[in-house]
Amino acid sequence: MALRIGLIGVGRGRMVQLLGRRRDVRFAAVCDPVLRSRELRERVLAEMGAAGASFAAAYADFDRFLCHEMDLVVIASPAPVHAVQSVAVLRSGRDVVCEVPAVMSLGEAEELVAAVRETGRRYFFAENCCYWGFVRAWTAILRSGRLGRPYYAEGDYIHDVRSLMRDDSGEPTWRASLNPVRYCTHETGPLFDMLDCRGTTVRALATPSWVAPEFPAPDAGAALLTTSSGAVVRLLACFKNAMEPAYHRYLVFGTGGTLETRTTETLTLATFEDIPHLQGRVSLPLGTALRGQGSGGGHGGADAAMLNDFVDAAIADRPSPIDVYRGLDYSLPGVCAAMSCENGGIPVDIPDPRHFPARARGNKSGTEEPPCTSAECPPGRGRSSG
Ligand SMILES: NC(=O)c1ccc[n+]([C@@H]2O[C@H](COP(=O)([O-])OP(=O)(O)OC[C@H]3O[C@@H](n4cnc5c(N)ncnc54)[C@H](O)[C@@H]3O)[C@@H](O)[C@H]2O)c1
Repeated sequence: MALRIGLIGVGRGRMVQLLGRRRDVRFAAVCDPVLRSRELRERVLAEMGAAGASFAAAYADFDRFLCHEMDLVVIASPAPVHAVQSVAVLRSGRDVVCEVPAVMSLGEAEELVAAVRETGRRYFFAENCCYWGFVRAWTAILRSGRLGRPYYAEGDYIHDVRSLMRDDSGEPTWRASLNPVRYCTHETGPLFDMLDCRGTTVRALATPSWVAPEFPAPDAGAALLTTSSGAVVRLLACFKNAMEPAYHRYLVFGTGGTLETRTTETLTLATFEDIPHLQGRVSLPLGTALRGQGSGGGHGGADAAMLNDFVDAAIADRPSPIDVYRGLDYSLPGVCAAMSCENGGIPVDIPDPRHFPARARGNKSGTEEPPCTSAECPPGRGRSSG
């Protein structure tokens, strides 16, 4: 039977259209509070259908959406509701694909891990940058030992998103008050995979909001991490600036050489200790696209590669390629960095989510969600089935 996919948040969530060519996927229902009127629901369903994702139903109400028959739900709603929606979907008996970041607090991280453990459902963390071609290539170079032991790395994400800090009605969005260091997974994901590590402590500082003082979010945030591999990692996130185009930049220093890219579209610049006669840095032709996959779809093909990998794992009943623990490895440095910023840059320990204690049933995370009261909820489905 085809995997029935639900979608929360129609903006970025439209990437599910990339799955439209698969015959083993069916688009079940989409949910977004903007879909209040029948006219809007019909328009969105028609638009998505024309683009390859023929969803059967559209809901403005989350609880009614959860009553729909689905196997896997893609959560592409604003970041502050990711955790609560992930927990509700898992506890309703479905697998989750969740956009970045996974959580906004340590308490949410514990709730999320408890939901995965107690339901046995799969959690897929949608860190698409881990699927970029050059990230996979750098990982292979590092694994081969060619770069020796990595001791320092940097990840920068520079993107002017001031236009996304207000919605169509002029109200500030979640991005208007987000400390940029919280949005760190596009750097921690690739770098932690390359270095085969997780963050252990973080010290971070946020700037004032001078570029666009009408939005309280700091203009930039910078964080310094220690890692389980012994390397030091520096992160920079800046979402209010005049930089065009936006870019991600990564750098790794190892005892045997260096790798650096300024944007994902340019070449990797490399040095190798064991090739000392190289005149300066060498250019390696590594872009975002994965070999053999072309550059179709968003982010150089990474969105399609990631979604297909996740759906393959769900259908084959395999473990998640980026599970809840790895998703939290990538996300918790941002949570702890924000705590550090709020306390003058003090070091904050980053917990290992694998060591979160099991929670007794009956406490907040162990309590069953109240059963859905909607008349449309099919027996055995919906929130009461988790
Ligand atoms: N991985 C990437 O490359 C990438 C790129 C862009 C955005 N994102 C992530 O995707 C998510 C969505 O980003 P966006 O720019 O589309 O955000 P957005 O603020 O535009 O919101 C997305 C949609 O969610 C809807 N929404 C708002 N509240 C909701 C709720 N409570 N329940 C369900 N839907 C709700 C909105 O109406 C909107 O249509 C964010 O978490 C963002 O971090 C990831």
